[in-house]
Amino acid sequence: MQRHLITSAIPYINGIKHLGNLVGSQLPADLYARYQRARGNEVLFLCATDEHGTPAELAAAKAGKPVAEYCAEMHTIQAEIAKGFRLSFDHFGRSSSPQNHALTQHFAGRLADAGLIREVSEKQVYSNADGRFLPDRYIEGTCPNCGYEKARGDQCENCTKQLDPTDLIEPRSAVSGSTDLEVRETKHLYLRQSELKDDLDAWIDSKTDWPILTTSIAKKWLHDGDGLQDRGITRDLDWGIPVRRGDDDWPGMEGKVFYVWFDAPIEYIACASEWADAQGGADWERWWRTDKGADDVRYTQFMGKDNVPFHTLSFPATILGSGEPWKLVDHLKSFNYLNYDGGQFSTSQGRGVFMDQALELLPPDYWRWWLLANCPETSDSEFTWELFQQGVNKDLADVLGNFVSRVTKFCRSKFGEAVPAGGTYGAQEHALIAELDTRIARYADLMDAMEVRKSAQELRAIWVAGNEYLQAAAPWATIKEDADTAAMQIRLGLNLIALYGALSEPFIPDAAAQLQTSLNLGDPQWPENASEALAVLKPGHAFVVPDNLFAKISDEDRADWQERFAGVRS
Ligand code: MF3
Ligand code: ZN
Repeated sequence: MQRHLITSAIPYINGIKHLGNLVGSQLPADLYARYQRARGNEVLFLCATDEHGTPAELAAAKAGKPVAEYCAEMHTIQAEIAKGFRLSFDHFGRSSSPQNHALTQHFAGRLADAGLIREVSEKQVYSNADGRFLPDRYIEGTCPNCGYEKARGDQCENCTKQLDPTDLIEPRSAVSGSTDLEVRETKHLYLRQSELKDDLDAWIDSKTDWPILTTSIAKKWLHDGDGLQDRGITRDLDWGIPVRRGDDDWPGMEGKVFYVWFDAPIEYIACASEWADAQGGADWERWWRTDKGADDVRYTQFMGKDNVPFHTLSFPATILGSGEPWKLVDHLKSFNYLNYDGGQFSTSQGRGVFMDQALELLPPDYWRWWLLANCPETSDSEFTWELFQQGVNKDLADVLGNFVSRVTKFCRSKFGEAVPAGGTYGAQEHALIAELDTRIARYADLMDAMEVRKSAQELRAIWVAGNEYLQAAAPWATIKEDADTAAMQIRLGLNLIALYGALSEPFIPDAAAQLQTSLNLGDPQWPENASEALAVLKPGHAFVVPDNLFAKISDEDRADWQERFAGVRS
């Protein structure tokens, strides 16, 4: 039995995610986790909300709530929606957890002890009225480039020019509006990633099975220009993990917190500890510490492409620099972007379909199937309502749903709701079994390799093979001359349904469960080979005809949704 640690990039807390976010990490991670469980492997699948940083503070301010309260509420909402999509996390944690506080401070202490943290004095804007340093984006003023009056200290939204807060004309605090600002000296901590450059380089070189796309991003950051830069890991914010050196105060760093990108990946580890606590004290270190049993764990991370540098360099720098035997990632699966109807999904602009809205329209399997089958794997891909309608109607309703309904209904009308006995296999059946053996093996290889789109294609081909068999065998015609052979054909068809349930579960878990239930089967068994799998349901085994598995999306619905989601979410 293999052991798989699987993490999905942890979604920001500020707002409900769109379908592009979902397909870029959480959904394919869930597919892989479900598949590995189905193969009988031990899996720990973790995700969490990413709760710190200015976006969280700003979103809370906008909602008129204290940030801790805002985060707690949004976490519950995101957790509910994740359940709605059947994301099978073993734990959905929070980067603001006490466990992550302790671990983040622990890592900072270890890095400092190893001489990998330096203190840097910087000049930064201080607001006397607010009694705090202001991060760049908390300062507003007039853009020196275009005259826009609400430019932010990091960038002008109007002309997109990158700015320094001191560039702004008539700067004011975005917190209070006060213009009583001054530039003061302040200290920040920098992680000396440059010291770890050779270690990181050697580690990346050892990853010969990683996609070039991934290693080339890492190599670029390691070698381009002046090479890997040291990185500021503290910020002047109220909300976040207070800067401490392990359990000790850090003189001069009072009132500061760690940068969100420092503590967020550490939550992958802390989340295991949260999971263990939620289990009443399971052993989580056997998943994370190579000195405590995690040697044989295979660790896979899922993320969007913009997250790759943080996962190939920054987080490994934290781990390597600690000098402790934490597990490093073994395989990293990254995704491009899903576009929406000719443009981009955008959280800030409210453009596209958001996870909560999607579930109001259709059950999760419809979305899971289409998004995974069309995920932005080797290049960006596009969601349009036409493509979505076509994919759902053809693959789910016409191919899978129709097969199930024809076989079960025909059986009920001719033989009753129990598996009929009947004759022996002929050439057609043997040919089908041979095809299925090849395809199931290929499907498993593709799922192991996390080739998501190709896996979906192979699964669809397996469904199609059943349909073609049924069409050729034509039990409705056979029965007129040879009832025994027709019974055998239908017995095979019913067993195919059971096989489809088992193979399809990682993609469409609700439909799979519905099939298992109507066939009176327990947990789906992954098939050893096709001929054994097709003998699971013995003559006499009772079943019930399931309700229609998938409804077709009508042209009216499609047009209606297209219009409804053309604009901007308010
Ligand atoms: N919240 C980040 C994003 O959505 C991802 C953080 S992943 C982690 O892009 F590594 F930091 F955990
Ligand atoms: Zn401007």
